[in-house]
Amino acid sequence: MITIDPHLTKTAEVHALLLGAIAPRPIAFVSTTDKEGNVNLSPFSFFNVFSAKPPILIFSPARRVSDNTAKHTLENVLETREAVINIANYELVEQMSLASTEYDRGINEFIKAGLTPTPSLKVSPPRVAEAPVAFECKVKEVISLGAEGGAGNLVICEVVLMHVNESILNEAGKVDPFKLDAVARMGGNYYLRANGDCIFELPKPLRNKGMGIDQLPDFIRTSSILTGNNLARLGNTESMPTEAEVEAFITNPLVNRLLNKYKADPEEAHQELEGLAKKLLEDGQTEAAWKALLLIRKL
Ligand SMILES: Cc1cc2nc3c(=O)[nH]c(=O)nc-3n(C[C@H](O)[C@H](O)[C@H](O)COP(=O)(O)O)c2cc1C
Repeated sequence: MITIDPHLTKTAEVHALLLGAIAPRPIAFVSTTDKEGNVNLSPFSFFNVFSAKPPILIFSPARRVSDNTAKHTLENVLETREAVINIANYELVEQMSLASTEYDRGINEFIKAGLTPTPSLKVSPPRVAEAPVAFECKVKEVISLGAEGGAGNLVICEVVLMHVNESILNEAGKVDPFKLDAVARMGGNYYLRANGDCIFELPKPLRNKGMGIDQLPDFIRTSSILTGNNLARLGNTESMPTEAEVEAFITNPLVNRLLNKYKADPEEAHQELEGLAKKLLEDGQTEAAWKALLLIRKL
């Protein structure tokens, strides 16, 4: 482990470490206008949602590290207290990146990036027609985090209207992560495309109160092949299968074959059952994994 004191380290290095480690970050593709009505569009990955009622999104245009000047987006929100936060997906990623160019004040990045401005209904900055989701926002507060280059400015936005393209919704009307094809910012020049195998499901420990890893039998908790993820999946169950359920699992053809094959070698059978349990866990079959593991006691 390397230990770093940010106060004794160059801002550029602190910046690179923070951005490399706090990743992937979602991206707010923000349209704003100045008080003359000039339009600006820029991406910000210091961004997230912080509240649903009221619906609050926060992004942070930082003071430029190179010359300690303010970004046009910050100047605009201070002038007009309005913004549209568009969500850029993979289809828009290159245009979004192009819009991050440090063009002079007054240059409209919709035009530079070849994107279509569509009038908003409740705020003056237009939204990006191509974006799968756009949030019209009133700026509640801007909190400056410092006066030096690199200092962020929290732009606290309340969503007043949301636009969602139906093409990213599933039959239940919810955003389908596979259809959204989201992109996120990593360190350096890296991005993440969230689709295909990148997306996985994890049962929420909401309805049940799992026993926790500390309550797993010792021979499971100290297993040399089960990972922290495997143990946590087991710890997320409320109770272990009963003796009768474990006994009944012996009739499972795969288990039966395994037990017969390693009848003379309990050590090998132990390892095979652990391996089977690991596979079952990674396949989402937690109940069966439990049974395979508890069979080890019967060897
Ligand atoms: C994906 C991406 C994310 C970015 N995130 C931020 C950010 O969170 N804060 C920031 O100050 N600049 C960020 N930038 C850089 C700004 O987009 C860039 O400085 C832009 O020119 C600012 O435009 P403006 O001066 O018109 O507001 C990001 C750039 C990209 C490509």
